[in-house]
Amino acid sequence: MIKRIKGTQDIYLEEMKYWHYVESAVREVTRLYAFQEVRTPIFEATELFKRSVGESTDVVQKEMYTFEDKGGRSITLRPEGTASIARAFVENGFINLGAPMKLYYMGPMFRYERPQAGRLRQFHQIGIETLGSSHPTADYEVIEFAMSLLKRLKIDDAKLYINTVGCEKCRPNYKQALRDFYADKIDGLCTDCKRRYDTNIMRLLDCKVDSEVAAKAPSIHSYLCDECSKHFNELQELLKANNIDFEIDSRLVRGLDYYTKTAFEIRAESLGSQNQIIGGGRYDGLVEYIGGKAIPAVGFAAGIERIIMVLKSMGIKPETEEIASVAVLPMLENAFTLAFEYARRLRKRNISVFVDVMDRNLRNRLKHASRIGTKIAVIIGEEEIEKNLATVKVLDTGSQFKVDGDFMASFVEEKLMEL
Ligand code: HAM
Repeated sequence: MIKRIKGTQDIYLEEMKYWHYVESAVREVTRLYAFQEVRTPIFEATELFKRSVGESTDVVQKEMYTFEDKGGRSITLRPEGTASIARAFVENGFINLGAPMKLYYMGPMFRYERPQAGRLRQFHQIGIETLGSSHPTADYEVIEFAMSLLKRLKIDDAKLYINTVGCEKCRPNYKQALRDFYADKIDGLCTDCKRRYDTNIMRLLDCKVDSEVAAKAPSIHSYLCDECSKHFNELQELLKANNIDFEIDSRLVRGLDYYTKTAFEIRAESLGSQNQIIGGGRYDGLVEYIGGKAIPAVGFAAGIERIIMVLKSMGIKPETEEIASVAVLPMLENAFTLAFEYARRLRKRNISVFVDVMDRNLRNRLKHASRIGTKIAVIIGEEEIEKNLATVKVLDTGSQFKVDGDFMASFVEEKLMEL
């Protein structure tokens, strides 16, 4: 019997529901935040990843699925999505389509890592990339998107860590400070640290084996140039002003070379060793480095398998697939005119609506509304018709609001965004 390759998975039946649940949340949140989908090839020229991810990274040195095709070209199964997006941006002249370009992608990635829970050789990412803005508001929006996606999935067990990795102006000084700090300690450190001392000194900071030494290493925050320092402060201000909790992790350096300034990760404490569900940051040099103009950019990617592990560990079951967002429930014969009017107003706001045209009581109407996945019911009875009102019920929590009919659509829209 031929078996599937180690580190890969078949996804089917009950498991598939989790995938649809995550994918439909991604489609919905990308729509709300105006990100457009891009699909790039699953394999690319090896050179693309060597140049963008970085020759000295673990991904390039140890983890790529690289082979020669029949035409003698060196091909690599993509280990991540950002390099391909940057290449597609340059190759297809996205620069002419206006800035910023807000793009997203979903699909399989390949890394030859040691398989374990939450670590696969074929795994799936969803990622977003904003290209064209150097302003910290773009970093902020990308992080807000990540938090909204998790909220929509009902994951509240995740924590945001941020840091800055500086830029080509200030990073060399910091790297030198690290080299000086580690110079007399390196003989006692692990083999990975020894190798990285010459090639990728900042990765010594996130070594799991020698974390006690790393804890005493100098912090990048004392070496930042004014521009990087200002950028990092502004990002923190934006996060605070918008009530997004975060912690600064000055040893967060990320495993890919293209980052500049902001780096962030979202970790789910319940997951154990592979607890990073989202990783991202700014990469202002990448587009130029692979042959385009100097285009600043920021983005992140989330591992779908890890998100699903969190959902399972929290006991979150995928919801019934949503057929409509809102159910309008006319409780009387003469409520239909108003019901169709309310439905039209909601649809004008791009909200999908199911109007219940069956003859049944409120309990059964609500039961069906839940079955088809609606989040909110708008109930119209006698009082609602007489006084131009609408009763808005959030199905998950059962909370109910009586609102002025003229503001029903905007109220429902706001409630949907909160869910
Ligand atoms: P990354 O941190 O290498 O970043 O990967 C992002 C996410 O992919 C991780 O947080 C994790 O959830 C998932 N992941 C990575 N490796 C595996 C694996 N072997 N098995 C299962 N899941 C995995 C990037 O890939 C960057 N391109 C993110 C980015 C986008 N930065 C800016 N824009």
